[in-house]
Amino acid sequence: MEYTILNNGVQMPKLGFGVYQIPVDETKEAVLNAIKIGYRLIDTAGAYKNEVQVGQAVNEAIKAGIVKREELFITTKLWVSEYNEQHAEKAINDRLQKMQLDYLDLLLLHQPYGDIYGAWRAMEKSLNAGKLRSIGVSNFDSGKIVEFAKLVSVTPQVNQLEFNPWNQRENDEEWNRKYHVQPEAWAPFAEGRLDLFHNEILQEIGNKYNKTIGQVVLRWLVQRNIVVLAKSVRESRMRENMDIFDFSLSESDMNLIKSLNRNETAFFDHHDPIQVERITGWTL
Ligand SMILES: NC(=O)c1ccc[n+]([C@@H]2O[C@H](COP(=O)([O-])OP(=O)(O)OC[C@H]3O[C@@H](n4cnc5c(N)ncnc54)[C@H](OP(=O)(O)O)[C@@H]3O)[C@@H](O)[C@H]2O)c1
Repeated sequence: MEYTILNNGVQMPKLGFGVYQIPVDETKEAVLNAIKIGYRLIDTAGAYKNEVQVGQAVNEAIKAGIVKREELFITTKLWVSEYNEQHAEKAINDRLQKMQLDYLDLLLLHQPYGDIYGAWRAMEKSLNAGKLRSIGVSNFDSGKIVEFAKLVSVTPQVNQLEFNPWNQRENDEEWNRKYHVQPEAWAPFAEGRLDLFHNEILQEIGNKYNKTIGQVVLRWLVQRNIVVLAKSVRESRMRENMDIFDFSLSESDMNLIKSLNRNETAFFDHHDPIQVERITGWTL
């Protein structure tokens, strides 16, 4: 495993295991498998409804002597309905209780809407109290990061954003780096959209290194020093996705991947008012 150092000195694995869309009754086993295979960063969220099972897997792995707590990097996220200082403070305590953990390695604001400043103050307090080792945001565009970083006391350690070959976001990456915010990639495979796993250019690159398309994509992000989350419920793919630290893509192959950029989301635009209404549940 390779690591990056966050702006507060905390060490974060460059590759993690995401549990979005893993059914609740499969999460514990999937996370346990992932830890056995060598994943150290686990990414969940209140919205994924499987935090309890992540906590169970983590505690079971520690109890079985597979891993020590300090070797793991556990991330979860607060939802918009939990924002404002009072709600967030309660939500953080509830999370620790629910996951049976003494602390979280990273807590993120999942979406950039609502009382993000109130929630952030509660996160800063919990950071100072040792309940959180680092705090960050997700889906904050560059304008929002600039504004947010200026107005809060603790600059976010991480911004988790969609990054994949169709949506490469070099400009967003630069703005985050300018403010010392570590970019982290969600949906690195764009969940297979636009036939990513059959793309000829990615396949040709993979053939050169004897690697799969999935491995090429993950390596491309790690080489950009973007922390990357890969999700799979299959053990063989968990292993495959971990096996990216024994090769490097050449500059010309990195540039070839650049040519795939469509500069648009493979999912939805966080500025689209219909999506804002959908995500927040707010309507007139
Ligand atoms: N902050 C946010 O708003 C946000 C949004 C979305 C996701 N996330 C985080 O990012 C993580 C990853 O994103 P994601 O799960 O949406 O999408 P993804 O990682 O782009 O794609 C996951 C899909 O790819 C398949 N897959 C995985 N490895 C593969 C391989 N080597 N070859 C072929 N297929 C493969 C998986 O299928 P199988 O499981 O069947 O193998 C799954 O269907 C999430 O789990 C979550 O933790 C965060």
